[in-house]
Amino acid sequence: MIQLRVRSIAGIVIILFVCFAGVQWVGPFEDDYWSVISDFVGSFHPLLLHLPIGLWFAVCGLLLASVFVRDSVPRSIVYGLTLVTFVSAILTFSAGFILYLGGGYGRATIALHMYSSLAFLVSLAIFLFCYGTAKRPSFEWLSAGVTTAVLLIAGHAGGVITHGDPLDRAPWRIFAERANQEFKSVDAVASGRIFDSLVVPILEDKCMACHGVERAKGKLKMNTYAALLKGGSKGACLLPGDSAGSLMIQRINLPLDDTKRMPPADKEQLSLDEAAFLDWWVSAALPEEQSIESISFPTEQEAYVQSIMGDSPVAIQARVAKARSKDLLLKYADFQTRYPGLLVQSVVGEALFELNAVSLLGYDEASVRSALEPLVDSLIRIDWNRRQLDTAWAKLFSTAAIVEVLNLSDSSFSDEDLLLLLSKMPELKKVNLTGTEFSDEQVDSIRAHSKIETIVLTGTQLSEVGYQKLINHLPGAEIISDYSM
Ligand code: HEC
Repeated sequence: MIQLRVRSIAGIVIILFVCFAGVQWVGPFEDDYWSVISDFVGSFHPLLLHLPIGLWFAVCGLLLASVFVRDSVPRSIVYGLTLVTFVSAILTFSAGFILYLGGGYGRATIALHMYSSLAFLVSLAIFLFCYGTAKRPSFEWLSAGVTTAVLLIAGHAGGVITHGDPLDRAPWRIFAERANQEFKSVDAVASGRIFDSLVVPILEDKCMACHGVERAKGKLKMNTYAALLKGGSKGACLLPGDSAGSLMIQRINLPLDDTKRMPPADKEQLSLDEAAFLDWWVSAALPEEQSIESISFPTEQEAYVQSIMGDSPVAIQARVAKARSKDLLLKYADFQTRYPGLLVQSVVGEALFELNAVSLLGYDEASVRSALEPLVDSLIRIDWNRRQLDTAWAKLFSTAAIVEVLNLSDSSFSDEDLLLLLSKMPELKKVNLTGTEFSDEQVDSIRAHSKIETIVLTGTQLSEVGYQKLINHLPGAEIISDYSM
């Protein structure tokens, strides 16, 4: 009985060696039909591989148990379990090899995994042989140890293919990588090629997990410009100048539920900006060596380039400003739907607003105030004529740090509220107080506003003495009053 086992195991070992020689010569299918089929069969590999690993460690557990408690585990059970392990390992290996035949994995990528898995099969067969003949227990232990070591290597190598090297997440590597990244981004700005600095990072992030050095789904690699031109099984992926005809652009613009959509729907998608940039880049037919400086980007792309490349304080500021103005414009739109006409966008800048209190009539002022609060910092002009300016409004407006034009003509306010209102507003340039109760006592409230260029005070309570005092306070300003003509 044992003799028969020994012979059949010897036969298996021979077959395995033939396999070992065989896999050297077989490469992935060129044919699409077979690659689809093998992709399917191969997809069982990740499922199956847990079997031989689990079973083998169970065998090891039983071996150990039999050391601690003599004769606790019958040898036939260990032998039987090892046989099952062996069969499951052969199935797993076959599915894995078929997965490789389906394409998408380079030879170099899988070499270590494949050969160490074969070595595991061989080593397992040798263990079966030693255990079956039961002549020298030391051989049993040796071959069990070797089998375990080889299995660990094969498992690790397989894990690296699908999940990357776990050591890549080791803290020291992460810190080194980060330092390197900073270095690289500065470098990229310096070398300044659009392809390297702007296109590759997008592809690296969103495509190369499946179309890179290690895997080439659809036989497509996207890691170099030449590889893009060459394309995959359906031919060129990039046609410079023809974005509609370029497979890569076609695929990223497909609806999310289309099975041909890239990246596949369950993977991280391109942002709208990234998709727009790639589209622009392809249609602009830029050669690989085109530098960033040599070209003036359309406004939209310029903004994208800034948002990606900017390492300089100016660029960072621009990035922050862009996010801020986007946020402000959203708040403005919200305000506008609730209180149409109160605020308008200023021509002075993108996210600057002008308030006109004429349209305030009929609204609940307290709710307008709270809605306006987040936008007060971005008011550049306040028109508040023929209205009462109470303490609540004065308080709110006093925080309007960049207001340049303040028109209070024919409005009414208390001394304290005017003082409060004018206590900050450091950028104030033009003030209109026509027809108000403005008087000599309030002249001091203007004092700190050295940037005032024009102030209109006709029809106020201001006396000639007060007027002279104001001239002293604001020597450079144009003061229009009943005394100035
Ligand atoms: C999760 C893996 C995965 C990611 C990520 C991915 N692809 Fe694919 N891609 C595939 C697979 C699988 C195929 C082959 C099946 C097919 O053609 O749909 C493919 C095929 C393609 C093809 C057709 C190649 C040919 O000639 O047959 C193009 C073009 C393509 N991908 C572009 C992209 C682009 C561009 C990205 C990134 C924006 C991307 N892919 C990201 C898996 C991926």
